[in-house]
Amino acid sequence: MNPIVDKLGRPIRDLRISVTDRCNFRCTYCMPKEIFGDDYVFLPRSELLSFEEIERFARLFASLGVKKLRVTGGEPLMRRNMPELIAKLTSVDGIEDIGLTTNGVLLGQYAQPLYDAGLRRLNMSLDALDPQIFGEMNGRGIKPGLILSNIDRAKEIGFTIKINMVVKKGVNESEILPMASYFKERGISLRFIEFMDVGNDNGWSFDSVVTKQEIYGMLKGQYELEPTEEAYFGEVAKRYRYVDNGAEVGFITSVSESFCSSCTRARLSSDGKLYTCLFASEGFDLRELVRGGKTDEELLQEIIAVWERRGDRYSDERTEQTVKNKKKINMSYIGG
Ligand code: GTP
Ligand code: 5AD
Ligand code: SF4
Ligand code: SF4
Repeated sequence: MNPIVDKLGRPIRDLRISVTDRCNFRCTYCMPKEIFGDDYVFLPRSELLSFEEIERFARLFASLGVKKLRVTGGEPLMRRNMPELIAKLTSVDGIEDIGLTTNGVLLGQYAQPLYDAGLRRLNMSLDALDPQIFGEMNGRGIKPGLILSNIDRAKEIGFTIKINMVVKKGVNESEILPMASYFKERGISLRFIEFMDVGNDNGWSFDSVVTKQEIYGMLKGQYELEPTEEAYFGEVAKRYRYVDNGAEVGFITSVSESFCSSCTRARLSSDGKLYTCLFASEGFDLRELVRGGKTDEELLQEIIAVWERRGDRYSDERTEQTVKNKKKINMSYIGG
């Protein structure tokens, strides 16, 4: 099949698959506990795509040129039997890379079974080494020690690991250098993520963002850094290497240097809606079609039509007005 492109000429290369909207954390920037409280209604089980439905979509997207899958949540390990899903996804022809993004809490239990099922890459979130700061940011008082030991465990097993640190002004800037030093010594890639206005509930403002330039400036004061080559077309992070030991550090700059022009990512929510941007208001209901008995060919035609209509470039166009007035889906629903 010929490669399909959207209205801005971007091919489809990556599929981010959310497997649940639930999470055992309440990160202030993603699922603030004032909003995601005890009475919050999550998706019922029957609305989630089954593993068989997910595998079918992975095959269909792979036939359109998707090479890379990323499994997300909420917290993906809150869904039962995840190694079974990984095993199904590793069998899909054309998929060259599968990653899973997790907060790491349940990895003590699942790291080995996930590895045995064929998973090799983990992106793990950690916003601070300081217990007080981390406990407040994750909204559950979870201690960094647990995540750090699960990182060590996953590394021992053989996973390639990246650490994601969302930086919020006045909250965890003091952790930038300690985190950089900790992961540099261990040769684990740390990515600093600019706080984004995902959803409408996370209290975002331009003032709360610490930009790549600011963080880079802090690192340059301590270390010699050189830029590295893009690992794949449209890579989200801008990466650098520490000259003295070769460890890497990256920046995800959705606010200060948007990367929409090379955005090749589609997103599938846990209830089977297809989104063409992290900041979209509406998705396209694929679950209804799949449960309505559509054939592979019919589903493909629908997916192609959605991608060919795509003109999203939210981060390029972000203004005070879009931040306030545009209705956006929640991060925990679509998985970043
Ligand atoms: P790899 O490059 O495969 O390691 O994964 P990744 O960095 O794309 O995925 P991950 O789930 O670790 O996401 C890291 C951060 O990048 C999260 O904050 C995501 O929300 C953000 N991100 C990923 N893709 C996009 C995108 O298309 N647009 C924006 N604005 N942010 C994104
Ligand atoms: N801004 C930036 N990154 C975010 N993440 C969650 N919410 C936000 C936000 N508002 C990150 C998490 C996780 C990844 C999937 O997305 O820290 O690492
Ligand atoms: Fe959960 Fe990840 Fe959102 Fe934190 S950022 S609340 S760990 S889904
Ligand atoms: Fe892609 Fe939307 Fe992110 Fe731009 S803002 S990089 S179009 S997901």
